[in-house]
Amino acid sequence: MRENSPLMIPKTRLFTPGPTPLSPTVLQAMGKNIPHHRTDEFRAIFKGAREGLQRFFKTTQDVLILAASGSGGMEAALVNTLSPGDTMLALVAGNFGERWANIGKAYGMDVQLLEAEWGTAVKPEALKAALAANPKIRGVFVQHNESSTGVKHDIKAMAAIVRERPDVVLVVDAISGMGAMELRTEEWGVDVVVVGSQKALALPPGLAFVSVNEKAWQRIETTKTPKFYYDLKRERKNQVNFESAWTPAISLIVATDAVLKELDAAGGVDALVKNAGTLAAMTRAAAIAVGMPLLSPNDYGDALTALRGPEGIEIGKITKVLKGEFKSEVAGGQGKLKGQIMRIAHLGYYDVTDILGIIGTVEIALQRVGHKFAPGSGIAAANAEYLKRA
Ligand SMILES: Cc1ncc(COP(=O)(O)O)c(C=O)c1O
Repeated sequence: MRENSPLMIPKTRLFTPGPTPLSPTVLQAMGKNIPHHRTDEFRAIFKGAREGLQRFFKTTQDVLILAASGSGGMEAALVNTLSPGDTMLALVAGNFGERWANIGKAYGMDVQLLEAEWGTAVKPEALKAALAANPKIRGVFVQHNESSTGVKHDIKAMAAIVRERPDVVLVVDAISGMGAMELRTEEWGVDVVVVGSQKALALPPGLAFVSVNEKAWQRIETTKTPKFYYDLKRERKNQVNFESAWTPAISLIVATDAVLKELDAAGGVDALVKNAGTLAAMTRAAAIAVGMPLLSPNDYGDALTALRGPEGIEIGKITKVLKGEFKSEVAGGQGKLKGQIMRIAHLGYYDVTDILGIIGTVEIALQRVGHKFAPGSGIAAANAEYLKRA
């Protein structure tokens, strides 16, 4: 394996599905000194961030900003919408679905699982049948994009099913999905949606954004799970006045306001979703051309692409070349997929040149590890996919 020439300043690149590369706008915003958070100056920034997030989520309802990683947002969503002993249905198609189940167990919920093989999605019909079979279910918890596999769930269809049940709320972890794949929070009637800052918004980790609709607020009024920091009712009371209950992550909120303004000027969330779709299609086409099987040939989403190594080649050898020779960080497998796949991100601040770069260097890595294929075939397939869409 080669290393960069010592004369060259190493240029590192994140192709992981979170954290993702920070946009220059974010870097600039984070470099500023901060206003105090109980001032008009900060309230104007908070208002900008809150309204920008409503556009990002496609909702006019509350989007709360929490100082937390994505898992904190998941925990907040769950403890506010259920009481101990309530029956919840966790849709588990990977590592992050298991997280819903684990949070539920930690708070004494009656956790029922609806599972799908990793690499496939739970189907809406299966959800419909599970709800019909168990009238005690009070909440359905699912991932928009299951980041451990890159699989997409059909949230629109699932929301239509849950909407029929006034006693059930739908809570969606769109931490990595929002901004990479369509999600119309209000139009589809999704009760609670959780998003993380370090994904499509090209911000650093540290903020969770949680939308809550009227059906969910009605539920929240009645639940009894003990909570303090993640009390969404208290947050709402403050955040409608553009303050937070506790000291907010001021720099991150300044950057959120800035990046959402930039995104709106560039076409908004629809443009970001379209971009991820193009990059994902290019990556899938390249993978097939060079002989790297898709983990999910049918249920894939566009936030990331999960790939297996070519027959007989350990995936770790490929990621080692990418990291060592090209300073590009792709993600490996999680849980039971550890050592079996690599994941390339498309969500956020990536463009066509970035994706052609990673595809080109994957081709070099494949040659270094002795895979027999037609060099250039991945790039050609990606180019063709781009030209089809551009
Ligand atoms: C779909 C999904 N859910 C939950 C999480 C957990 O978020 P965090 O690591 O920010 O707590 C992630 C992060 O990778 C994710 O992609």
